[in-house]
Amino acid sequence: MKTAILRCSQLVTLAGPQHPRTGAELCDLAIIPDGAMLIEDHRITRTGLRSQIEPLIDSSYSVIDAARRLVMPGFVDAHTHPVFAGNRAAEFEQRASGATYAEIAAAGGGIRSTVRQTRAATEDELVASGQRYVNWFLRNGTTTIEAKSGYGLTLDDELKLLRAIRRLSPIRTVPTFLGAHEIPDEYRGRKAEYIRVLIHEMLPEASKLAEYCDIFCEPGIFSVEEGREILTAARNAGLGLRMHADQLSNSGAAALAAELRAATADHLEHTDALGIAALKAARVQPVLLPGAVYALGSTHYPTARDMIAAGLAIVLATDFNPGSSPTPSMPMILSLACTQMKMTPAEAITAATINAAHSLNRAHEIGSLEPGKLADLVIYDCEDYREVPYFFGIEQAHVVFINGRSAVEDGKL
Ligand code: NIG
Ligand code: FE
Repeated sequence: MKTAILRCSQLVTLAGPQHPRTGAELCDLAIIPDGAMLIEDHRITRTGLRSQIEPLIDSSYSVIDAARRLVMPGFVDAHTHPVFAGNRAAEFEQRASGATYAEIAAAGGGIRSTVRQTRAATEDELVASGQRYVNWFLRNGTTTIEAKSGYGLTLDDELKLLRAIRRLSPIRTVPTFLGAHEIPDEYRGRKAEYIRVLIHEMLPEASKLAEYCDIFCEPGIFSVEEGREILTAARNAGLGLRMHADQLSNSGAAALAAELRAATADHLEHTDALGIAALKAARVQPVLLPGAVYALGSTHYPTARDMIAAGLAIVLATDFNPGSSPTPSMPMILSLACTQMKMTPAEAITAATINAAHSLNRAHEIGSLEPGKLADLVIYDCEDYREVPYFFGIEQAHVVFINGRSAVEDGKL
């Protein structure tokens, strides 16, 4: 199958260096004005000016007229929790009335309440609800998600979640095992025992279905010492490492991510200059999740400008989950990045595409529109890339391609 896409007002290719981008590299989107692109089967074969591409098209191509619309790579959302049962709209209401996320969790709500509901759900039910959320991701221009388990917290329930993640389509998924998301109800007061089960019973099986291991490293949940033990075992089981680090307090979790040479340290709302320096020295990518700050009603955003100034290869993600960040919308995250963290639209787009792909070890396949890469791309209902974060709270994705095939057409699935 051959496809040509013509008359892109801007073809935002993000062609450029092969390494995770830092500093001034974050600002260069490698835009082709009046751009065009050729696709053969699943992959991009050419990009260029319309005048260069048009003469190459013969009757074997089906031609798509972008009609002077913006074309960009699909978003790569490098931190999501999309498979869970129920939702926590009632807690959202409680927080609006003054309760905090930590208070609700300490009273047995929060993650543990989603765990209770998720354990009661079948794998098929979780695929069905996850598929509903996948469709939301697609309609917002996201073509790849990193997807965490973490609402099962028993061997069988965690495997059920990882299997459900692997059944989601047509979005690309990168599965992560998050058995260390909370201490489940039946192990309250016996955390050391839960960690033993996690390491000796859950990790060997989960590592057959997941690529990464993650942990909620926070005082009162898993400490830095416990994190070191769990993540070292995960690495020995062949998994890459990611961490929920310094979300609610600065406990030295970013430094642990650096010590373990994790792929990413995520959240980092409370990380200080020492933590940033450690991430830089170890080349750990920060994954910033401003949706979780916004939805918790906080104003304590991570210090994105300091991280960029320090030379970190910054990533932006939604943290889609039923508690702290119930949004699948990368455009909303870009809006928050620009308005609340003072990233420029170009920096935010680089962080949400090619840098995110690097953090998932997928940059050779996705994250930019270059010959040889998979054709995951979005035609937006606007002309200029700055309009994506500028108009907020709407879905501007017009056509979404995954693997050279359209998953969304005319804004509809
Ligand atoms: O990234 N902090 C831990 N995990 C999620 C929240 C999950 C939940 O509240 O259900 C987060 O914010
Ligand atoms: Fe998270």
